[in-house]
Parts: sequence; C-alpha cells; structure tokens
Amino acid sequence: MDKLRMVGGNPLNGEVVIAGAKNAALPILCACLLTDQPIILRNVPDLQDVRTMLKLLQEIGVTVHFPDAGDRSHLVLNASVIKSSEATYEMVKTMRASILVLGPLLARMHSAKVSLPGGCAIGARPVDQHIKGLKGMGATIKIKSGYIQAEIKPPLERLKGASILTDMITVTGTENLLMAATLATGTTVLENAAREPEVGDLAELLVKMGAKISGIGSDKLIIEGVEKLHGAEHAVIPDRIEAGTFLCAVAAAGGEVLVKNCRPDTLDAVLVKLKDAGLKMEVGPSWIKASMQGRPKAVSFRTSEYPAFPTDMQAQLMAVNAIASGSSTITETIFENRFMHVQELNRLGADIAIEGNTAIVQGEEKLSGAIVMATDLRASASLVIAGLAAHGETQVDRIYHLDRGYDRMEQKLTLLGANIQRIK
Ligand code: EPU
Repeated sequence: MDKLRMVGGNPLNGEVVIAGAKNAALPILCACLLTDQPIILRNVPDLQDVRTMLKLLQEIGVTVHFPDAGDRSHLVLNASVIKSSEATYEMVKTMRASILVLGPLLARMHSAKVSLPGGCAIGARPVDQHIKGLKGMGATIKIKSGYIQAEIKPPLERLKGASILTDMITVTGTENLLMAATLATGTTVLENAAREPEVGDLAELLVKMGAKISGIGSDKLIIEGVEKLHGAEHAVIPDRIEAGTFLCAVAAAGGEVLVKNCRPDTLDAVLVKLKDAGLKMEVGPSWIKASMQGRPKAVSFRTSEYPAFPTDMQAQLMAVNAIASGSSTITETIFENRFMHVQELNRLGADIAIEGNTAIVQGEEKLSGAIVMATDLRASASLVIAGLAAHGETQVDRIYHLDRGYDRMEQKLTLLGANIQRIK
C-alpha cells in the first residue's frame, strides 16, 4: 500500500492547475447510459474513482476511448450497446457513487440491478430517497439478496413523470432522479433538490443531450421527459473541493500560490472562512491568488448543503484550525461520523475534542510529525495539510483514499515546493 512521506516547514509558492470535479465527473460519466450516441467529455480528472466508474460502465457495455494519447482528461463514451444492466456488490462496495447507474439504466433499459451500498467510514449513507423517488415515477423495486432490483412493468412502457419531494437534500439522489426523469413520460418536479454546482453541471450536459430541464441551480428542478436523448460534448466543471484544499494548504504552510482553472463563484462559503483565517486573496473569474504570512486565525464554522460550507472541506479547514491562534468549533451536520481525522490530527499534536457532532479545536503553535493513517478521502487531505505545516517528518498511510479523489496531489504539491514523496 502506498504512503506519503513529507517533511513540514516549506512554504508553498507557484501555480497549481485544478482538475475537473470528481463529484461532477462521476454522474456525468453515468449520463452516457441515457443515449446510444457518443458523449465527448473534457476536463475529466484522472483519479481512482473515475477509473472505477469507467470499469463499471465497460462491464455494462460502454466503450471508452481516449482520442489523445497520454491525455486522460479527454474521452469519448459510447453506450450504443448495453450488455448488462447490473452493478455488482464488488463494484458498489469499492465506490458508492456506482449507485448513479441506477436511474439512467432503469430509464433507458427499463430494468436495473444495483447492489445496495453498505455503510461507510463517514456514516450510514442510505439510498432510500433514490428508491422512493424512482418508485414515485412508477418503477417496481424489490430489495433481494442485497440488490436493488428495479423494473418498469406493463402497462407502463416508460418511467412516468411525478412530483417528488425528498425527505432531505441528497446530491446523488437528486442526480439519479434527474437522469431518470429525462426519459420519462410527462413532467417531473424534483423539490428539495440539491443545489451543488456538480448537480448543475450534470443538468447542463443533459440539456446539451436534448433534455428539457428548468430551474437548474435552484432547489426545484422541472423536467419534461423526452423520448430520446442524443450525443453531446461537455467540459466538466473545475473541482471546488480540490481548489479549496490547496487554499487550506497555503493557509497552513504559508507562501503565495496562484490557483488556476477554478471557479471561485462556487467557493463563496470557503473563501469567507479562509479570509477570516487571514488568507489574503485576489480573485479573478477562473483563478485565485492566495498568500499567507504568519499563523492563521481560528475560524468556527458548520457544514451544510450548498451554498453553505461544504462537508467535503470540513477536515481540511480543521487542519488549518489545528495550528491557528485561538480556539474554534466545527459542527458537522451532513454525515454522522465524519470526524475520523480528529484522532489522527491529535497524533500530530493537535488539541481537538469531540462533543456530539461538534469538534472543539484549541489551536497549537506547532504540530510535530508522526505516522498517521488516512481513513477517508478528505481526512487524508487534512492529514497532508497538517503534515506540510508540522515540524519534522509525517507519514500518511493508506493513501489509496487520497488517490480516489485527487488528481496527482503530491506532484502538484512538489511543484509548489513541498517536501513530499510517495513511498510505494
Ligand atoms: N441520505 C439519506 N438517504 C438517501 C440519501 C442521502 O438518508 O437516500 C442522507 C445521507 O446519509 C447524508 C445526507 O443525506 O446524511 C446527504 O447525503 P448525500 O446523498 O447528499 O450524499 P452523497 O450524494 O452520497 C455526495 C458526494 C459526497 C459529499 C456529499 C454531500 C458524490 C459522488 N459524493 O454524496 O462526496 O460529501 O454529496 O455533499 O457526489 C467526497 O467527495 O469526499 C464525498 C464524500
């Protein structure tokens, strides 16, 4: 298993180019299942979750072609032949986002069999809202032997439009139902829809494919079903979480970095907190120039759905707070178990206590390097940030979590002057 070894203390200087968003690319890859024509994608991040999703799509029958040798960000997907409508337990257990094939397969093939994901490191994460919504659209769904078995049965010939109000805001739930509704008969209204920019990016691609969607970016999506969708070309939106992660790294390690190919307008809540922490920022339409001198100031925050502070940035800003002057409270409202990094940050000398869904952080002037273990994707990023700011050597084990969601993170950090290496 690969590890990352770093020696803290180097400020970060230079430029970093942000990749396409993982959480936009994953549903967008699944959208190719809605048409028998090619989908051309650009700015697809090269990371493990994308490779896993491509493998699943290939098992289903999709052909995947990289037109430019050596450039994995540009690809052409063709789902003209679907040979299987199944996502096995083996696939779903390695990546929960595999659930995103359920809506498109059911809509196009009229049946789908997808393993129920189990719980995961950050929480129980049920998919009951995906199932409830598809049932509302007329699907017959049984849970059998750990699988969701979904069908459209006569007299229904296609899914039918419906008014769906989910019990809570769910990102992949909204995406699954949105994709399914594009090929339904009649109008679907999705209320309490997730407003995350990644949902909007998927909707933009679906519109290019011929879907009729209004309310994009709002919590009410209205979809007029069409009989067929066609091929399209799309560039995936830049990853706001990767951009936010590099900004936190600068806030913790110091230096001056130009973050390029990002979408600052999708990062408002994060930028407000980083400004309060003392990060100086100049913001352009697709870039942020960030600089930090001295120690950050502690900032309290709570996670919530977009446009509020994202849960996917909680661990990284906690690492900044760990070395900040002052104390802060961090409340996690999306996932019930997303504090696994706390024990590991404390191994580096942080002073963080957990009370219910709130972490209380007393900033320490200096952390000291240690061997720590990554427990999930964003936890790994927070440990890297802490390690870059710590005194001495830090080793982050189980780095496969980081590889799932970051495109060449240690190479990008090395270019910025960090002392970081991958140990095979
Ligand atoms: N929930 C239910 N029932 C459902 C669906 C969700 O109870 O049917 C609950 C969840 O357990 C959670 C809350 O609703 O407590 C929100 O979950 P959501 O469904 O929005 O999460 P997700 O769609 O599974 C996506 C991202 C996550 C990100 C969350 C929240 C993808 C592939 N994943 O997950 O990304 O944290 O939204 O923004 O888009 C990551 O990138 O590190 C990551 C975990």
